[in-house]
Amino acid sequence: MRSIVKGKLFTSKGILDGSILIEDGRITRVARDIQEQVDRVLDYRKKGHIVLPGLVDMHVHMRDFELSYKEDFYTGTGAAAMGGFTVVADMPNTKPKVNKLAVLRERERVAKSKALVDYGLYYGVPDREDDIVDGIEALAIGFKVFMQHEFYTDKRELTEKVLEFASWKKMLVVAHAENPKFFVKTQMGTAGTPEAEASAIKDITGLASSYGFQPHVTHLSSAAGAREFLKWKKQARITADTCPYYLLLSDDDARLQGAIAKVHPPLKSSADAEFLLKKLKDGGIDAISSDHAPHSLEEKANLESALPGFPGLETTLPILLTMVNKGLLGIEDIARACATNPSKNLGLNMIGAIEEGKIGNLTIVDLHRRAKIDPKTFVSKAKYSPFEGREVEGMAVATIVRGQPVMLDGEVVTQGGWGENVKTYG
Ligand code: NCD
Ligand code: ZN
Repeated sequence: MRSIVKGKLFTSKGILDGSILIEDGRITRVARDIQEQVDRVLDYRKKGHIVLPGLVDMHVHMRDFELSYKEDFYTGTGAAAMGGFTVVADMPNTKPKVNKLAVLRERERVAKSKALVDYGLYYGVPDREDDIVDGIEALAIGFKVFMQHEFYTDKRELTEKVLEFASWKKMLVVAHAENPKFFVKTQMGTAGTPEAEASAIKDITGLASSYGFQPHVTHLSSAAGAREFLKWKKQARITADTCPYYLLLSDDDARLQGAIAKVHPPLKSSADAEFLLKKLKDGGIDAISSDHAPHSLEEKANLESALPGFPGLETTLPILLTMVNKGLLGIEDIARACATNPSKNLGLNMIGAIEEGKIGNLTIVDLHRRAKIDPKTFVSKAKYSPFEGREVEGMAVATIVRGQPVMLDGEVVTQGGWGENVKTYG
């Protein structure tokens, strides 16, 4: 299969009018204009659309298995395609958990049979040392450590075994960093404070320097957490992401919206949000993830017992592009935080840029298409959002995975099963 994509290309030299030739899934040429007989031409030059390196989301929950009523790989990756994401990295807190090699293999089988976009799989902390085995690295891109359940508990020793293993195998460790010593009781149940985040970041960084694994702090939510992270970043290789709602919403929104906006870590103050935005813009915070965490509406009904999290794959890019239109972010911040850096963090140097030799993953963006966030239209099974009703300007109009359009003009145009584990990227 040979195709050409034309538009305003986001390259290391800036945004340039150009053409991309993709052959058998790889970018084989990038030039001002390519005129060749190919199977498909997608020409966005007249419309002035921007072609970004394919967006990568380091933190999603595709659920599936016994939690398919919340989301499955088909609907979850469909939501990703709608939102412009070409790669999603799936968290292991499933039922059963992805913390045994046999379950990881089953995860791969189910994902491969349904996924529309490419995916990575994380492995969780197991219940027995025997489940930390050779072979994990063939299918998983990294480990997820949920510190409040796995480090600040009697699982600590086992967690350290995982960290040691990750160091040997040179695998990424993604940490949900909150120390329950600093949790407080709120109307929304027990919730983490900025100190909880800062304390756990200090601990995971200390562990990284003694064991040698590569740490990534996910969903940074507070100024205190970000400051602690930035302090360590000066002296060690450590990366972090935050989510759009930590940049735009605050505990006032949480109070107004109740259970729908309940999430872990909880929304903090608007001063925290401002600090996170500043640090995202100056590159201190590396990446943005959606933490797409779908639950059924019934599970979001009661404030205190509501499960934390909400879907994010279909709102993340429109929300961020709206910030670009308002002058709060630049398009280069989106490319860096949603494509280049998450690719690097996951060790995927064959994606993340529009260059010859890279894999043909592209996200095409109409920076000026307007809409109102309407969860009823989500492909995700979770049809609610703390951003419901927001006017947005800018969204993905095409999602291309290994040269194949998966979403065009708001329609999924590929069969489930096209998606591949990023481990096949080589
Ligand atoms: C996550 C989920 O639903 O799996 N929820 C969330 O609020 N982020 C788990 C978690 O990180 O707490
Ligand atoms: Zn988390």
